[in-house]
Amino acid sequence: MARVVVEGGVSLRGTVTVSGAKNAALPIMAATLLSRGPSILKRVPMLRDIETMGEILRGLGVETERMSDGSIRCETKDESTVLAPYDLVSTMRGSICVLGPLLARRKRAKVSLPGGCVLGLRPIDLHLKGLRALGARIEVEHGYLVAEAEELRGAEIYLGGQFGSTVLGTANVLMAATVARGTTVIDYAACEPEVQDLATFLVKMGAKIEGIGTPRLVVEGVDSLSGAEHTVIPDRIEAGTFMIAAAITRGDVLVDQCRGDHLTAVIDKLQEVGVRVERKNGTIRVNANARPRATEITTHTYPGLPTDLQAQFMAMLSVADGMSIVSEKIYPDRFMHAAELNRMGADIRKDGPNAIVQGMSTLSGAEVMASDLRASAALVLAGLVARGKTEVHRVYHIDRGYERIERKFQDLGARIWREDD
Ligand code: EPU
Repeated sequence: MARVVVEGGVSLRGTVTVSGAKNAALPIMAATLLSRGPSILKRVPMLRDIETMGEILRGLGVETERMSDGSIRCETKDESTVLAPYDLVSTMRGSICVLGPLLARRKRAKVSLPGGCVLGLRPIDLHLKGLRALGARIEVEHGYLVAEAEELRGAEIYLGGQFGSTVLGTANVLMAATVARGTTVIDYAACEPEVQDLATFLVKMGAKIEGIGTPRLVVEGVDSLSGAEHTVIPDRIEAGTFMIAAAITRGDVLVDQCRGDHLTAVIDKLQEVGVRVERKNGTIRVNANARPRATEITTHTYPGLPTDLQAQFMAMLSVADGMSIVSEKIYPDRFMHAAELNRMGADIRKDGPNAIVQGMSTLSGAEVMASDLRASAALVLAGLVARGKTEVHRVYHIDRGYERIERKFQDLGARIWREDD
């Protein structure tokens, strides 16, 4: 199994180009199930999760091909199958977003229940509530969601849950509503840029959606959708990861081809701890020359600070000047990385959905284990600032969501490489 090795102590310098957003590309790929015409998707990152979605779609009769210019062409050829199997869905929870389009177009779906993951239980009750409100019958049988609907009808749906809105739940209900009969109102819809991007793609396919980017989406069902061409938005989580990397190494990095307006909470927090951040024409320059100050971090739904950057911020606060508090409002159990950071000399204590981080002047390189995608990125960041060598095991997690991560860090001067066991 591969591991990433980092030798810390280099201040990152240079320019890094952000890839397309994985979490926008996944539901957009699933949305191509809604039409028979070909769709061309540009700026889809080359990642394991994208390959998995391609495999699921091929199993569902969608021809999915990576073109020579890097774009992905998807075209539905056969609508007779409705199965998303366990072996694929269990590797990537994002695959749940084929449920809505399958129900809408094929009137049936058999999708493996994704199960929990290191982030916690991760229920899908809100997805089911929304789809049932549109008229679907959904049962759980032998670990699978077995769903059917003769006809989906528009409805008023409140999609708020214990932890606020749901990103993929909104995506599922929105996709199903585009071809339902009549009007659907989704209240407490997720406002994340990835949901906005999906809605924009659906509109290009012929859907009628109002309120994109707001918590109330109004969808007027249409008879059918066509294929469309779309360029996926830049990955705000990848961009944020490099911004924090610049801050933690006291470097000077230009993050290129990103959307500063998707990152205002991140920019604000970095400025608060003493980092210089400058936004200009689709770039963000991050420049730090001192130890970051301690602070409080609370994750929220968009436009709040994203949970997918909580681990990376925690790595930064491990070397901040003073005591910080990190509160996780989306996944109260998302703290697996804390124990691994402690193996590197960090001082982090968990207290319910909060972590108390006593900043240390330095960390020391160690062998550590990645528990999930963002945790692995956090361990790489800690490795960049630690004394000596850090080996991040189970690095397959990182390949799910970061395109050529070690190459991008190498281009910024980092001493980082991949080794096979
Ligand atoms: N929730 C419910 N019921 C539901 C659905 C969600 O209670 O039916 C809860 C969840 O347990 C969680 C909160 O609501 O506490 C938010 O979950 P959400 O549904 O928004 O998460 P998701 O759609 O399953 C996406 C991203 C995650 C990201 C979250 C939150 C994709 C493929 N995944 O998941 O990304 O953390 O939104 O922003 O888009 C990652 O990329 O590393 C990742 C985990």
